[in-house]
Amino acid sequence: MSTTTEAASQSLSRAMAEAAAEIDQALAVLLPPEEGAEAPLYAAMRYAAIGGGKRLRGFLVLEGARQFAVSRQAALRVAAAIEMVHAYSLVHDDLPAMDDDDLRRGKPTVHIAFDEATAILAGDALQSHAFTVLAEEDTHPDPAVRAELVRCLSRAAGPRGMCGGQMLDMLAERAGAPLDEVAIGRLQTLKTGKLIEFAAEAGAILGKAPLAQRHALLAYGRDLGAAFQIADDLLDATVSAEEAGKATGKDAEAGKATLVGLLGLDRARLQAERLVAQAKGHLDGFGRRGDLLRMLADFTIERRS
Ligand code: IPE
Ligand code: IPE
Ligand code: MG
Ligand code: MG
Ligand code: MG
Repeated sequence: MSTTTEAASQSLSRAMAEAAAEIDQALAVLLPPEEGAEAPLYAAMRYAAIGGGKRLRGFLVLEGARQFAVSRQAALRVAAAIEMVHAYSLVHDDLPAMDDDDLRRGKPTVHIAFDEATAILAGDALQSHAFTVLAEEDTHPDPAVRAELVRCLSRAAGPRGMCGGQMLDMLAERAGAPLDEVAIGRLQTLKTGKLIEFAAEAGAILGKAPLAQRHALLAYGRDLGAAFQIADDLLDATVSAEEAGKATGKDAEAGKATLVGLLGLDRARLQAERLVAQAKGHLDGFGRRGDLLRMLADFTIERRS
């Protein structure tokens, strides 16, 4: 690594570590304390959401918000909300009926540490709670902004977003017939891309940014999200479970529809690199303030977990 790229990667990892700590703090306050007769549900929600993960989506919200001088408290609430929805998607993705995984973020998955019913409920409750947080006045004084956040996150997570993509993922696995590149692209846009697009756009919504800037961040998020899922599929094929903190080497055997499976490692990696360059291109109007977002795009495909 050259000295400048090394310095850049250090400032990104420092900024990401700081953001992760702040997001953890926000989640610890916003999620219900482990009290009362329902305590196992709250414990499972906290177990799934606090203290793990790269916080890429939350970091995107914070960095997007910084472009428009949004208050840190407001941005952290939205960052925590999207991390709740993401944690829910992981808890359900790991269930025996879906990917059937025992390891997540370096520890037992929620259905292993608790039980299946608690995992299903914890996922459901994390999702609902995220929308409670967005809708509360502390998130933004303007109710139209709060409604827009709720609309965009619910679309990204719902039938035309993450859930739709997860359905396609399951169907492709069961069908046995390989999907073509366009179909895989659509599957990945829905299952992973939409939440990342929302994360990139949320700061502009909070900051009531001019439409052109909001669109630029959305376009950045779209390319970043596509690169991110290709990188996840590359990690499945190339990294140990210990390093990734989750089971790897499973996609090919499970018959998952991935670009790595269709194109091979090298062509999939080239595609991800092209998408990262394209993502950074959308940030041209943001000047130096967009530097961490540019570095984050590189990190997306260089990461090892
Ligand atoms: C994993 O997401 C699931 C995908 C959408 C590929 P991340 O790789 O962001 O998981 P964490 O949050 O860092 O654990
Ligand atoms: C999951 O994709 C995307 C979600 C919507 C959770 P994967 O199934 O590839 O994610 P990992 O590899 O289990 O994290
Ligand atoms: Mg899956
Ligand atoms: Mg999975
Ligand atoms: Mg994966």
